[in-house]
Amino acid sequence: MTMGEAQGAGALERAEGTTVTPVPKAPSPAGSPVRVAVAVVEPDDHQRERLVTMLGSSVSAFAQLDELVTRLSGGIGVVVVLGPSCADESTLAMSARIGAQYPNVAAVLVTDELTTSLLQQALRAGVRDVVTVGNDPAVLAQSVQRVALSFDQAASPPPAAPVAAGPDQPEVPAAPADEESPECKVITVFSTKGGSGKSVLATNLAVALARSTDRPVCLVDADLQFGDVAVMLKLAPRHTTADVLPVVDRLDAPLLDSLLVTHEPTGLKVLPAPLEPAYADQITSAHLTKVIEVLRTFCAYVVVDTPSYFNDVVLGAVEASDKVVLLSGLDVPNIKNLKIGLQTLRLLETPEDKLLLALNRADSKVKLDVGEVERTLQFKASCLIPSDVVVPQSINKGETVVTFAPKSGVAKAVTQLAESFMPAAQRPKRRR
Ligand SMILES: Nc1ncnc2c1ncn2[C@@H]1O[C@H](COP(=O)(O)OP(=O)(O)O)[C@@H](O)[C@H]1O
Ligand SMILES: [Mg+2]
Repeated sequence: MTMGEAQGAGALERAEGTTVTPVPKAPSPAGSPVRVAVAVVEPDDHQRERLVTMLGSSVSAFAQLDELVTRLSGGIGVVVVLGPSCADESTLAMSARIGAQYPNVAAVLVTDELTTSLLQQALRAGVRDVVTVGNDPAVLAQSVQRVALSFDQAASPPPAAPVAAGPDQPEVPAAPADEESPECKVITVFSTKGGSGKSVLATNLAVALARSTDRPVCLVDADLQFGDVAVMLKLAPRHTTADVLPVVDRLDAPLLDSLLVTHEPTGLKVLPAPLEPAYADQITSAHLTKVIEVLRTFCAYVVVDTPSYFNDVVLGAVEASDKVVLLSGLDVPNIKNLKIGLQTLRLLETPEDKLLLALNRADSKVKLDVGEVERTLQFKASCLIPSDVVVPQSINKGETVVTFAPKSGVAKAVTQLAESFMPAAQRPKRRR
């Protein structure tokens, strides 16, 4: 007799189709049902029993992960609850291999003490959630529920499949697949020249937008090599885009949200650039597009900061965006580069109404005249940002201009630009 048979009320479905142990019932949104099985893996008898008790008697239990593997068929979704003794490298590596082989198997790790390194290690192994459960069974049940609901319903067997349907087989309703989420606007800030103020504009724009809504707003640093958004906002990131890499295939809103760092003064969520530039090469436009796609499901606005050149990731961001703010200084090299940038975007058939022009340090006497620049580019500027010492001052304080000097011309220009992205009903009325 195996551990599974000894400990659980039922076995996991095999290809032949036997019993399926479903996830215990927990509060969930209404929708069509999805069947999943829950398996506890924990070598320590006492700990295993504790987890089984928390989840309800209908879960299967195993002492080792490899015992579970022999019972997987790939048909039904399985949430694997890894007990505290599974937090070692070899078990997590095995969990990652299982996840790669069976897309509908996902793990939750239970730990007594959550450390940053364990969280990182677990997320890199594709573990969907790491929870410290204490004595509260609801914490674990909710985590299992979240993972269960994220399974792709299409990958679950149809109701006619030979899955057990006894009276003790409750169903977990999944969120309706076609549920309309409220609109999200994605805005990329780009310029063809370094030092033109992209990161200043992106951080300030994101903060201005975050303060305008109760829904989440996220700033993504897509300047993967030299991104300095985290430094500008004085954030100590626990995760970066590098942590998205190992989990990108199973990225969903709760998982991505757990990788974001919150800028406490404003509630803005941030996905910082990798701390080690070596990761930059591994992140492709497909990864960034996936991040944006998932952010769209729960954010009101997403702002993307970029490097000063076109690369695969920038082009992906441009394509995935609703608006692209092209930023330029008012000097000849800047305008020349911007003209080339505009030509490139037009060649790529970027819709003209996606593009906006913002001119930075637009007040300086020694610079070109705004009208002249607009004529050269055949583009009207939507935003004129003056040059102001409050910009470097705010950066040195780890603040944004919109919070540090809200009455400054810079803050006003950025706020007006932010308002132009808001639905008309939310825009404050201004006197002309
Ligand atoms: N409107 C402005 N007034 C004064 N300084 C500015 C202004 N915009 C940007 N700067 C300064 O320019 C530098 C470069 O800005 P940054 O946003 O990092 O550029 P980028 O991200 O395009 O490379 C920053 O140190 C900032 O202090
Ligand atoms: Mg920058």
